[in-house]
Amino acid sequence: MRCGLIVLTALGWLNQASAAEFAWSDPGLTPAQRTEAVMVQMTQEEKLRLVRGYFGADLDFQHSQKHPQARAFSAGVVEGIPRLGIPALFETDAGIGVATQGSGKNQPRERTALPSGLATAATWNRELAYQGGAMIGAEARASGFNVMLGGAANLIREPRNGRNFEYAGEDPLLAGVMVAQQIRGIESNHLIATMKHFALNAQETGRMALDAQIDEAGLRMSDLLAMQFVIEQANPGAVMCAYNQVNGSYACENAFLLNQVLKSDWQFQGFVMSDWGATHSAVQAANSGLDQESGSEFDTQPFFGTALATAVEQGEVAQSRLDDMVRRIVRTIFAKGLFDYPVQENQTIDVAGHELVSRTDAEEAIVLLKNRNHLLPLKTGMHKILVIGAHADVGVLSGGGSSQVYPPGGMAVTGLEPASWPGPVVYFPSAPLAAIKSLASLAEVSYYDGDDPAVAAKLAAASEAVILFAQQWSTESRDAPDLHLPDHQDELISAVGEANRNTVLVLETGGAVLMPWVNQVGAILQAWYPGTRGGEAIARVLFGVVNPSGHLPVSIVQSEAQLVRPVLDGDPADSHRGVRVDYSEGAAVGYKWLTLHNSTPLFAFGFGLSYTEFRYANLAVHCAAVQCQVSFTVTNTGHRSGKAVPQVYVSAADHHWEAPLRLAGWDKIALAGGQSRRVALRIDPRLLATFDSHDKSWQVRAGQVQFRLSRFAGDNQALTDTVFLPATVLPLQNQQQRQ
Ligand code: BGC
Repeated sequence: MRCGLIVLTALGWLNQASAAEFAWSDPGLTPAQRTEAVMVQMTQEEKLRLVRGYFGADLDFQHSQKHPQARAFSAGVVEGIPRLGIPALFETDAGIGVATQGSGKNQPRERTALPSGLATAATWNRELAYQGGAMIGAEARASGFNVMLGGAANLIREPRNGRNFEYAGEDPLLAGVMVAQQIRGIESNHLIATMKHFALNAQETGRMALDAQIDEAGLRMSDLLAMQFVIEQANPGAVMCAYNQVNGSYACENAFLLNQVLKSDWQFQGFVMSDWGATHSAVQAANSGLDQESGSEFDTQPFFGTALATAVEQGEVAQSRLDDMVRRIVRTIFAKGLFDYPVQENQTIDVAGHELVSRTDAEEAIVLLKNRNHLLPLKTGMHKILVIGAHADVGVLSGGGSSQVYPPGGMAVTGLEPASWPGPVVYFPSAPLAAIKSLASLAEVSYYDGDDPAVAAKLAAASEAVILFAQQWSTESRDAPDLHLPDHQDELISAVGEANRNTVLVLETGGAVLMPWVNQVGAILQAWYPGTRGGEAIARVLFGVVNPSGHLPVSIVQSEAQLVRPVLDGDPADSHRGVRVDYSEGAAVGYKWLTLHNSTPLFAFGFGLSYTEFRYANLAVHCAAVQCQVSFTVTNTGHRSGKAVPQVYVSAADHHWEAPLRLAGWDKIALAGGQSRRVALRIDPRLLATFDSHDKSWQVRAGQVQFRLSRFAGDNQALTDTVFLPATVLPLQNQQQRQ
């Protein structure tokens, strides 16, 4: 045995055959049995090794170098225990693909990028979210990573948040379900996925110290509900606690969030890792539920190094607590397949297949917001098309920060600022212009960069149609100062829209922006950050190869005055200076806030047009106590195939919820022209309840609830049915959904 172990160490890592020599190698044992078998062999030093992570790239400001075991330019590593066959944890970001860290100056690894997380949410297509997760997980495995630091399930509370592109919208059901699917896809590759950022990391301004104040019921019914859905439906291996404080205590040493909600109420079996630089103590963090300190170079000291060892020796942290931390990590390694399926670097990637996954996601994510006189799809008989702006001649934009993926073929635009963190600004080399040219058959297609609105208008006036691209780069660690498109693009859009009625606007933005020019353009496609094959995806929607079926996962307001916070709290240029943000709106986030205040957005949550029309009919609601099933018929009344997203909202007749409307279910259905289908949805009863923080339960109040079959939130043509629900107390957690 000993001899074999020396060989293993010399080999650098363990392979499948050699793993068979341990008692815990037997896959017939449960993960818990395997864990107990290995735990009794571990020294204290080995236990402590598993609870401390290191950064995987050089850190100039700390004068520290990449940990020698980390994969190049990666988010991090946790050393393994080769003597016992426990693999190192090789960590990578995550949300849209395999990222490269610190790559302003490094040689990035080139990987397939999905559209932004918000774009995937805009598909409202569970299957696509799963496939995207499976694809990026496959690339992580092929790159030697066994921990992905995604999905990100923070609710979009603040439309100016620089990281909204990483998140999945403003509604807890939509965000929870879509991120759960992504995580299931990632983990189908025998990897650990990480739900983050737990919790309430709703803005980047002041994020390192921000104190998010919120009442428990409001939190449980919003951000925590999204994350509870993820835990129940995907059972991720890890959860990452956030930078900010929640109600006066840092998220990574917040006993309410970690010990109470996550581990006790939700019975989370995996481990909690900190965000990079989010650990502030050894004793309080360990005792409050943090299991692993990540990227310890980012913290003021490596708290889960000597400090934790001493705290355990002195009894400030019980040995049983350290054992629990280790047990959670090791059990997850077994449960998720990291032990049985070791990862290796430099494996083959199915680039063509993965690009197709990304393009399909991008195509279904594109939301057709406006289509005056059926301007879209563009007619193939056109002779002169002008493309303007946003580097559409060479590529499509992506969001910045730790999630940045570098595409095959390199960066399409170079020399942009910021060149290093939180940059660089990366355009994927999927040029909309080339894709438009290839679909425009007879038309002469030319390009202008859009620098001068007057020149753009003149060129536009001389063209048959204009495809105008506008953009907003957003990035981790920096919020947008306001919701206007930057760089005077509002002026450009107005000028071009006025010059040519056949102007189609394509928006590549992190999230919602203000649209003062909405009446001046003929059509609007919200394309988000569309990923590695985004240029082709956009062109295919423009020309009708694909019928758009994206729907908004966020509301688009008419003005910032409609927001909960018309002005952002804190200085958007500063992510470190602490601010206190009072989330007194509680669970009334996004469209819920708007409907509560009778405030009509420009484009409502859930809105999205198609090149065909759908009719909803025959709504029926059947409830046994508070278990409700909603069924209805959807018909494609046009000629073209398309995908409908029927949405069911619920509304309490006595208005005792946080808002008049809650999304309670949806489906995405493909229908050929003229085709009909009956659809049935089961409603999670917690969406009919309120959280009682005194009794720690979900409570349905006796009374009438209206079910509204809608095209979007606040649809005044919704079909409705009202049922009486009996008073019911629901458990904290939905046991049926756990897997
Ligand atoms: C981000 C996390 C990310 C981590 C590791 C942090 O700055 O907030 O989302 O996973 O870095 O790269």
